Amino acid sequence: MTDDSTADNAAAGEKTVVRRDRFSGGPAREFLSSLAGDSRIFAADLAVDRAHVVMLAEQGIISDEEAGSILSALEAVETAGHSALASGEDVHEAIESAVIDRIGPDGGKMHTARSRNDEVAACIRYRLRGDLLEAAETTLGLREVLLEAAAAHTETIMPGYTHLQAAQPITVGHFLMSYVSAVERDTARLLEAFDRTNGSPLGGAAFAGTPFDIDRERTAELLGFDRVVENSMDASSARDFLAEATAALAIHATTLSGLAEDIIVYANKGYVDLSDDYSSTSSIMPQKKNPDTLELTRAVAGDAIGELTGLLSTLKGLPRAYNRDLQRAHPHTFRAVDAVVEASAVAAGAVSTANWDAEVLAAEAGDGFSTATGIADLLAMAGLPFRTAHEVVARAAETAEDDEAAVSAALLESATQAVLAESLFEYVEQSALEAALDPAHSVATRNSQGGPAPEALEQTVAGARKTLTADSNALAERQSALSEAEERLRTEVETYV
Ligand code: ARG
Repeated sequence: MTDDSTADNAAAGEKTVVRRDRFSGGPAREFLSSLAGDSRIFAADLAVDRAHVVMLAEQGIISDEEAGSILSALEAVETAGHSALASGEDVHEAIESAVIDRIGPDGGKMHTARSRNDEVAACIRYRLRGDLLEAAETTLGLREVLLEAAAAHTETIMPGYTHLQAAQPITVGHFLMSYVSAVERDTARLLEAFDRTNGSPLGGAAFAGTPFDIDRERTAELLGFDRVVENSMDASSARDFLAEATAALAIHATTLSGLAEDIIVYANKGYVDLSDDYSSTSSIMPQKKNPDTLELTRAVAGDAIGELTGLLSTLKGLPRAYNRDLQRAHPHTFRAVDAVVEASAVAAGAVSTANWDAEVLAAEAGDGFSTATGIADLLAMAGLPFRTAHEVVARAAETAEDDEAAVSAALLESATQAVLAESLFEYVEQSALEAALDPAHSVATRNSQGGPAPEALEQTVAGARKTLTADSNALAERQSALSEAEERLRTEVETYV
């Protein structure tokens, strides 16, 4: 069937069945049907149907009695469940048929002044809202465990890396807080995607509006949407909200993949021990303890990016207005949200149960002359141009590497003599130099805003706690707006049945 027959359907009762059979019975029946996958929007469709029927009755487009019997039939359809629906092109058609089967041709009045085009768009948005809030909630959980671990490790020194090479000593807390910041933005993106998703396309009809005196604001309100998607053509065609949601999910998955990779590498170096619950063993090598949960987490980014690519490829170049391609758009987003929510929760579990080995980390923190930048900073603070200081320390590093020796105050002194033909100790005291060679001291000096010094880090942690509370409130607000709308709709429906 095509929705071109909608007006006939609504007006002509029995004739509906004839036209449907004519267009849905061919060899492509299975290919055309989205019914199986539509289980995801079964509950959404019932809500959309209910809101629409209540509005039709309020507007006097159908009678209260007709609304009552349709709403009762919908209740029975809900109780029977998605799996009880007869085969059909999609959940919208199947539910409508089930209603007509129960109460006769008047059931077809449910589809007055709408189309499956605005209907499916409303269902996707309705369902996705909940999914996005769940995804946002998972990111809050991850932030919480990262924050907790960070707060416990504000003084746990570790090597920090760039290009996978030891670069400057930091703390475990500082490393973890870098991911808190990233996940904060992931949360914000998911909530923004929610806000953009939360508009009602219902009442746009096929794409060109309807002559019936409908109230689009009312169905929006009954469904908890915070606005109407105004242009009727945009209402049934727009899927950029899917792209935005999937992008937000793919970005979060990318954040997770980096976190997973870091912890995999750190576990490999013996810096952190994953809980057995988040590890697997080998079926043949009895001694192995593998970070499989984090490897799978890392791989989920591939899934999410694939879904985003598939979605955008489907949407690219689609003309206005509705095209059936759109039936294959939203499943990308639903698959992405399922995979990413699961990965995010697993990452949180792995982080919260991991054990950081402070001793091993401290022993490695100075490796690769990671305090070099601190020494150069010290010389620059004493008055040497930073570039000159850089050269002196680079010379010391080179000599140390050639001699396979550690960098010492003496070595730095001879490097200074070689480069500047003067003594280092004209600039700094030996004790200050020796302190700067100590990784813990080096960390403590980097007390700039957002830096790794325990004091600065504690500030960051405190700020992130506040942001977490604010975001939890923002989430709770949206969650309760949705449940209040559900409650409102239920109350309205009860007045008819
Ligand atoms: N199952 C369809 C979808 O998901 C519903 C809309 C069908 N509309 C149409 N004109 N064929 O997109």
